[in-house]
Amino acid sequence: MDTSATQQRLKWWREARLGMFIHWGCYSTLCRGEQVILRDLMPLHEYTKIANDFKPAKDWADHIADQAVRMGARYTVLTTRHHDGYCLFDTKTDGFNAVKTGPGRDLVREYVEAARKRGLKVGLYYSIVNWRWRGFWDPAGYPDDLPKIVQQVHDQVAELMTNYGKIDILWYDVSAVPGGNSPGSFGYQPSPLGPTSAEFYRSAELNAKVRQLQPHILINNRSGTPEDFGTPEQHVTADSDDRAWEACMTKNFAPNWACVNHSVADKSAGQVLFHMMDAFRKGGNFLFNIGPDAQGHVLPRDREALDQIGQWLKRNSDAVFTTSGDSITHGRGQGACYHYGMFTTTGTTAYLTLFFYPREYLVISKVGGNLKSASILSTGQPLQVQRLSNQRYRITGLPLKMPDELATVLKLEFEKPPHTLEWSGAEWLEGQLT
Ligand code: GLC
Repeated sequence: MDTSATQQRLKWWREARLGMFIHWGCYSTLCRGEQVILRDLMPLHEYTKIANDFKPAKDWADHIADQAVRMGARYTVLTTRHHDGYCLFDTKTDGFNAVKTGPGRDLVREYVEAARKRGLKVGLYYSIVNWRWRGFWDPAGYPDDLPKIVQQVHDQVAELMTNYGKIDILWYDVSAVPGGNSPGSFGYQPSPLGPTSAEFYRSAELNAKVRQLQPHILINNRSGTPEDFGTPEQHVTADSDDRAWEACMTKNFAPNWACVNHSVADKSAGQVLFHMMDAFRKGGNFLFNIGPDAQGHVLPRDREALDQIGQWLKRNSDAVFTTSGDSITHGRGQGACYHYGMFTTTGTTAYLTLFFYPREYLVISKVGGNLKSASILSTGQPLQVQRLSNQRYRITGLPLKMPDELATVLKLEFEKPPHTLEWSGAEWLEGQLT
């Protein structure tokens, strides 16, 4: 359970709602996903060439931070090291980093500076696994690697927490224990070594040190200990026990987070909006991913969708940033008015984000609280509310042409906090539901 100190630290994050995830590294030069070293089974000497070919543009960090702002994100999370072990930051622990290879610069420094300049909170993604260790794949054959693997994680995380000023989020990824994987059967099976991730990587000690260096930091749940928030991936599912959670998602339906050349299976801006609002109504955050190109520039197809979301958020921000979930349907899949869209609520106000634009009228049903008035959020245009049988309300006056490019949001004012109308029996068939 979250303590009040945790709640205090989480306050800005819960209000921020939307973050932008950035999967970017030397693998971006190949434009076939972030796990290409393993998926294409590339020997180390081949992969090193890629790091030397990686030559990001000077303005990449500003460019990306501008995109986050245009999208309406309040924080960003950058892959400072993915499973390939390549560090975008300067590190004393390993020469396989951005300063010693192609870029010749500390890219994490450029990123944190660009984000801070725009008032974005700064998140650092860090993969605990590093596939470059022989001992990761073959612990029995390379036992000397094991303590080094753990020490490298502790040292690199300490560098990230020490050298870049205030860091708001530490976003760990995969903390699989050596020996649990093989290139043929890639999965995170329990390791034959025995210890859990938290035991092997000494995660409690690691995170205690992180919190000492960065007392305000938020840490996700992927180091083997629960920490501050959960991370459902590619789906929107609330964590149990009222724990804070953030759904992370790609635009691509296929399993790539870093850039790919010509993606045929992308979500439209409308689909992204759908998942985003689903996260917000269920009380979670939404971390939406981009995979910039090798230069560090946002792909035109991503830019278009993200800008559309940003435009929509500007016109409809109250439906997101003044609300903290949905008091009507409580995250249930098939709640009141679910065939129209999704509710977000605050006090006696409900916002209904419409996922289709009804012809002439729509009906608010199964919602108690006594509906008083309705309007279009983005334009302020008042709508007419007429009470019908079965405690329903017909809303009329919608303009013929949809007022918003993506989804239109209705603002509904109730007398009392709106809630699901509990009912049973057959009276509704006679129009007598009370
Ligand atoms: C999955 C992917 C990994 C990505 C991560 C983001 O674990 O395999 O590449 O970084 O999701 O949450």
